[in-house]
Amino acid sequence: MRLDKFLVDCGIGSRNEIKKLLKTKQVLVNGEISTLAKQQIDEQNDHVTINGQTLTHEKFVYYLLNKPQGVISATQDEYHTTVLDLLDETARHKDVFPVGRLDIDTHGLLLLTNNGQLAHAMLSPKKHVDKCYQAKIDGVMTQDDVQAFAQGIVLKDFTCQPAQLTILSTSKKENTSLVQITIKEGKFHQIKRMVKACGKTVTDLQRLSMGPLQLDPNLALGDYRRLTPKEITSLDIFNVAL
Ligand code: URA
Repeated sequence: MRLDKFLVDCGIGSRNEIKKLLKTKQVLVNGEISTLAKQQIDEQNDHVTINGQTLTHEKFVYYLLNKPQGVISATQDEYHTTVLDLLDETARHKDVFPVGRLDIDTHGLLLLTNNGQLAHAMLSPKKHVDKCYQAKIDGVMTQDDVQAFAQGIVLKDFTCQPAQLTILSTSKKENTSLVQITIKEGKFHQIKRMVKACGKTVTDLQRLSMGPLQLDPNLALGDYRRLTPKEITSLDIFNVAL
């Protein structure tokens, strides 16, 4: 692989920043200064250092994004900003993609990775991965709705698996509710449609968690970070190489 690609993959910086590092002789390959971006290296066996720090090549990368509204869960689009546009050059370079989709007007936790096996496992209906959402509702949700969710809401084209509806607060005066909903599926507009089936409307939807991953309260809307080693370890339950 080219040395500059290796350095981008390691998250060292953009191609321009890397050019500067090479020009200023800060990169060593097997102990020798390298200034050539296109130098071929063996990413598994060659020893690459920057200012004495050894670099190791990562195959898979994992990003936790607090997706804002107005951004689509796709890798490219002619008209809209995509979640990929929010990430760094390393992510694009490594062909990262979103694990599942959130609607354009939904915000909250979105995992992005280039680990296809993990994405497949997390999205597989057989794995029953819990997805927890917080929703603002136009209408007052009731205990009847809680029971209907627990029994499995019947939609026009399918019957939902049992889901958990927790009513956090309601206001009869404002005719609104704040609820948390946990589902194990991920059908198109599923939460909005389940709430609609109860005669109410979702006015704001935020994803709080997906499997073992939680939305990080320190991430502002549109911000992202790499998963921590502990979070990556928590994905061991999916039995795929991480
Ligand atoms: N359910 C929805 O209706 N929309 C989402 O974005 C996610 C779940």
